[in-house]
Formats: sequence, structure tokens, C-alpha cells
Amino acid sequence: MSDPALQSPEMTVAIACDHAGVGLKAALRQDLIAHGYAVLDLGTDGPESVDYPDFAAALAREIEAGRAGRGVLICGTGIGISIAANRHPGIRAALVHDVETTKLCRQHNDANVLALGARVTPEAVARDCLAVFLTTPYEGGRHENRVAKLGPRLSPN
Ligand code: RB5
Repeated sequence: MSDPALQSPEMTVAIACDHAGVGLKAALRQDLIAHGYAVLDLGTDGPESVDYPDFAAALAREIEAGRAGRGVLICGTGIGISIAANRHPGIRAALVHDVETTKLCRQHNDANVLALGARVTPEAVARDCLAVFLTTPYEGGRHENRVAKLGPRLSPN
């Protein structure tokens, strides 16, 4: 199932990147489809230089409108695009470099956007991070007050 129009928001993942993340985005998109998710691919798709805040904003719009439950953002380091994403209400973007921090961003922070750096994280690690991001539940409990203070909870879990 890959047509976003036919899938629930919970099973729809938006993905976007700047020019540094095009290759990794293609690999992660394939993984999402293989895991049964519908993918909203918001670009970019070529090597021309673009500005990562524009792609973070496009992805934030999809999540804030409820059309996607989760998101994946990629730039060279993951830093710029995660900073940009976190300026949008309802986005809890976690920049991760390994499976352990990915697991914790779901369990403790209820992160709804995974941010990755294509120039600093090997593709195999990024793919593992994505799989963990998709399957690790939020723990709630003692984290609830803290996460509530981060802003509105717009995405389904
Ligand atoms: C683009 O060259 C690069 O600055 C961008 O992908 C990202 O790493 C910014 O944080």
C-alpha cells in the first residue's frame, strides 16, 4: 500500500530532504513502502541546491493538517532541517545518529519526526533508525507532563 489517499494518517509517513539527502530519501522511501506505509514524498528529488527550511515547512504542514502521522527529514547533517522543523507547533523532531537515541526519542519524547544527516550517518544505520522509529511506542507516564510542555499533540500515535 503506497497511495496516501488510501491510507489512514497513522499509516502515512511524510518524507522530505534537501539536495544532500536525495539518495538516502530514496532508500528510506523504499523501506517505508516495504513496511506497509503510504508515503507522502515532498521532495526534493534532484541535486540542485535548495533551502532545507522550505522542506521542513512542507512536511510540518502535512503533519499539522493530519494527513501524515509521522515524518522523516534529511539534510547533510540533519541539524538545519531539524532546527527548522522544530519551529513548527506540533512537531517534535529528533535528530538521531544511532538506534539507541532513536528508541529513546520515541519512548521518552514521543518524537513524531525523525531527522537524519545523510553526510554523517551511514545508510544502513539510517535504515535501522527508521525501523526503530516506526515500531517503538511512546512510554507516557513520567514523560507525559514534559512532552505536554513541548506544545500541542497533533499527530496520532
Ligand atoms: C547543505 O549543503 C547543508 O548545509 C545542509 O544539507 C545541512 O547539512 C544543514 O544543516
